[in-house]
Amino acid sequence: MSFRVAILTSSDKGYAGQREDVSGAVIREIAENAGYEITAYKVLPDERDQLAEQLRLWCDEDQADLILTTGGTGFSLRDCMPEATMDVVERAVPGIPEAMRWASLQITKRAMLSRAAAGIRKQTLIINLPGSPKAVRENLEFIMDSLHHGLEILKGQTGECART
Ligand code: MTE
Repeated sequence: MSFRVAILTSSDKGYAGQREDVSGAVIREIAENAGYEITAYKVLPDERDQLAEQLRLWCDEDQADLILTTGGTGFSLRDCMPEATMDVVERAVPGIPEAMRWASLQITKRAMLSRAAAGIRKQTLIINLPGSPKAVRENLEFIMDSLHHGLEILKGQTGECART
């Protein structure tokens, strides 16, 4: 079964048309290579309320099984993607960001600076990825396999975890 993916980029510069959204394109490439369908894509400024409203809409109107965000996970005063995510999720999924940070720390110690969060609202899983195209690829490629199994459970396609 092909899962539906929405991509949300949090970037003041991207929203103002001053920076090409390469990270969003990397998410699209990896998701499509995994056989997923991209159903929505948006670039918004680093504004907590606007980001949360967009996430809520995609979840509540069932427009995506998975929302992958990029950007806004760092320490800049404008970075608020994890806060917007936690504003809307009903169930936190700490294991995915923990795993991404663990894998990323083998590549760069700066991985500890990502405040990425993840959680579930209704039947949609939301995952924050960092902002750079390199970080997006390194994080997303690491979680893709396990993510598929999680989505199957979330969508009720399997209850079976009987493998390692
Ligand atoms: N994770 C991986 N795998 N590779 C990276 O290059 N960059 C880090 C971190 N996570 C990085 C990474 C850096 S430098 C920062 S500041 C944080 O992600 C937050 O990034 P963001 O502010 O662009 O969201």
